Amino acid sequence: MATGKDMYQDYCAGCHRPSGVGKFFLGIPASISAELSRADTVRLIREGDPRYPRMPVFPQIKFSQAQKIYDHLEDLRERHMLNQ
Ligand code: HEC
Repeated sequence: MATGKDMYQDYCAGCHRPSGVGKFFLGIPASISAELSRADTVRLIREGDPRYPRMPVFPQIKFSQAQKIYDHLEDLRERHMLNQ
């Protein structure tokens, strides 16, 4: 079973960086920004969100997997706050 971290590395880190801080100079926001709830994030990953038209959609990521990716974002968010 792939962990949330594995899936984040595979699907998300290329754009949002492994630490989740995004790539400011490319206009990619931090995936760890706390704007979106768990439910909204899962929907953004699997179905897209009209508020984020430039974010790719991943219909192949299962609901349970998207939950794990969100859990990993929570870990990254916590780590980021501790490092500030
Ligand atoms: C091809 C690059 C790319 C990939 C891959 C990608 N994203 Fe994004 N993501 C973006 C961009 C660009 C935006 C901003 C969209 C907009 O404003 O239209 C975004 C927005 C977001 C946001 C909202 C950030 C905020 O400021 O509220 C979250 C959360 C997010 N992405 C999570 C993820 C996750 C989780 C994955 C992996 C499943 C992922 N992204 C994969 C480019 C990417």
